[in-house]
Amino acid sequence: MVIENSNQFEKIDDSAYDRKAELKEFDDSKAGVQGLVECGVTKIPRMFHSVNLDFETSATDSNLRVPIIDLKDRNSNLHAELIQKIRSACHEWGFFQVINHGIPISVLDEMIDGIRRFHEQDTEIRKGFYSRDVKKKVLYYSNLSLYSDQSTNWRDTFVLAAAPVPPKPEELPSVCRDILIEYSKKIRDLGFTIFELLSEALGLDASYLKELNCGEGLFILGHYYPACPQPELTMGTSKHTDSNFMTLLLQDQLGGLQVLHQNQWINVPPVHGALVVNMGDLLQLITNERFVSVYHRVLSKKTGPRISVASFFVNSSDPSKVYGPIKELVSEENPAIYRDTAIKDYLAHYYAKGLDGNSSLDPFRF
Ligand code: OGA
Ligand code: NI
Repeated sequence: MVIENSNQFEKIDDSAYDRKAELKEFDDSKAGVQGLVECGVTKIPRMFHSVNLDFETSATDSNLRVPIIDLKDRNSNLHAELIQKIRSACHEWGFFQVINHGIPISVLDEMIDGIRRFHEQDTEIRKGFYSRDVKKKVLYYSNLSLYSDQSTNWRDTFVLAAAPVPPKPEELPSVCRDILIEYSKKIRDLGFTIFELLSEALGLDASYLKELNCGEGLFILGHYYPACPQPELTMGTSKHTDSNFMTLLLQDQLGGLQVLHQNQWINVPPVHGALVVNMGDLLQLITNERFVSVYHRVLSKKTGPRISVASFFVNSSDPSKVYGPIKELVSEENPAIYRDTAIKDYLAHYYAKGLDGNSSLDPFRF
């Protein structure tokens, strides 16, 4: 048992601690962090102890707020103001929340519930989905890069590769099949709408980012953050930027998501019915930093589980496709900051580097 071994590890001296063995035993259980919780763990196993003290800098009581943008203005005479708000949110924050986006609240609530059902279903059924083979269209794991990350997070994840070619319905977990299908369609459509607004905010044709294939691929990540008995020792998600073009995040009402803004961690408060939009590294690259991809993280908490659904918009199946700063956005006064970069080279660096540290885009700067 993972729990017994980790207690045993704590009694012996540091040189005897075999992190790799503990990771492997945990991984082989195929039951995730939730499996530990189901066994009644009261002390978190040592492999989850955060190696950096990053999370000790708590959120400040700053007046700064992630902008909330009302999309009902998009087809009205307030359209130009809306585009201006989006432009400044993407430039200053890299994050904003959208309301009146057109996806019914009942669909959002049912999606959170469906992800909860997946993670709380019979352990044996859940184990059947456990895999790190990212070529699979439906999978479940705890910490994707478990063996290379410096710190292991208190989090499990269900993944659906929803586009361009979704899996067959019968491949989806039966406890959440219908809502996965409905949510995938609605979030993809909303993603395309937001890419149009982002294109306009860059002064480009509305179809520009879609034509660059920024939203052709879609991965839906259903995160489950179980209640954590020792939240001061571990993170829900370590500080990171997203390795995609854009993320649309649905979070439940528990909170814990923070963004690094002007060197301070700012809470992203849950707003029922809203979706959080954030820019990924690849959007920062192609917009030549007009839009920024900023660090964010999720604290672990005594209360839980917290559930969130992150929809990652990426280009599709062509990892050798090269992206560079959009020509219309560079000039003599605004020279290109980044080199033309193949997606696969960027991703290789992102995963080799791990979650902590400098921007994953650094090696691709001029
Ligand atoms: C992510 C992410 C935040 C959350 O999946 O990249 O940052 O609230 N998720 O789960
Ligand atoms: Ni993220």
